[in-house]
Amino acid sequence: MSEKSPGARPEIQVKGLHKSFGDNEVLKGIDLEIGQGEVVCVIGPSGSGKSTLLRCVNLLEDPTKGQVFVGGTELTDPDVDIDAVRRRIGMVFQQFNLFPHLTVTENLTLPQRRVLRRGKAQAAGVAAENLRRVGLAEKADAYPSSLSGGQQQRVAIARALSMGPEVMLFDEPTSALDPELVGDVLAVMRMLANEGMTMMVVTHEMTFAREVADRVVFMDGGVIVEDGTPEQVIGNPRHERTRHFLSRLLDPAMADVEEETSDQVGGGEPKSD
Ligand SMILES: Nc1ncnc2c1ncn2[C@@H]1O[C@H](COP(=O)(O)OP(=O)(O)OP(=O)(O)O)[C@@H](O)[C@H]1O
Ligand SMILES: [Mg+2]
Repeated sequence: MSEKSPGARPEIQVKGLHKSFGDNEVLKGIDLEIGQGEVVCVIGPSGSGKSTLLRCVNLLEDPTKGQVFVGGTELTDPDVDIDAVRRRIGMVFQQFNLFPHLTVTENLTLPQRRVLRRGKAQAAGVAAENLRRVGLAEKADAYPSSLSGGQQQRVAIARALSMGPEVMLFDEPTSALDPELVGDVLAVMRMLANEGMTMMVVTHEMTFAREVADRVVFMDGGVIVEDGTPEQVIGNPRHERTRHFLSRLLDPAMADVEEETSDQVGGGEPKSD
């Protein structure tokens, strides 16, 4: 973890963000600033709005209300060239979404050529450099189906990096992976963090959050409940909701016991087994 100079301009800024799907208000007023080079991990229970928040930050979802700025440009300004701004934002999903009929290199060169209009040689050069960065130079001509999930995810990261983004958004990048493949992907993310990439990472990897994040944001029910250093939010949470979430995450068996107990206290049907 590196100290960030105070007053560095926010690279990502979210102001009063609301998002509803029909009657379902999923984000209920989010305010968040992420400085240049800062790494922020977003944690929280399923359905709390983590993915929706991330998707609003690159306008894959249209906010119902509020503003989003990236690198000082307002994405929510109706006159903004959204395609131009999106090029500055790399996104990595749980599912790698590689084209199965294209080689690794072709997966990396296609968006560069289509979106950035790079020539063949330049795109191939950038692809090779980014494959090297994620430790997969030798897989340049392989097809995705011949790679492990962890390797495919590293290709997806290299693909995003090949577009030269200013910020990277990750939505549970290791959740679909077998446990033994998680470490290699986290190592690549750690490298990016050390290089000074601005990163917003939705993850359940608490060790990663503790070691790499500058800040941890805990979301529940469409609001930010807690925002602080990893030591504070994970190590010494101020709110009961954060404590409950973390205890469930760290010891799911314990949380079940807690829940059964509170069910009975609450007068629910006693379990008959
Ligand atoms: N496109 C959509 N249309 C309708 N409802 C949606 C849509 N996307 C998300 N939602 C709803 O918004 C709420 C928050 O979803 P979101 O995916 O942001 O949660 P999450 O915190 O990422 O959860 P998880 O940990 O399971 O990924 C959920 O109730 C979900 O059903
Ligand atoms: Mg999600």
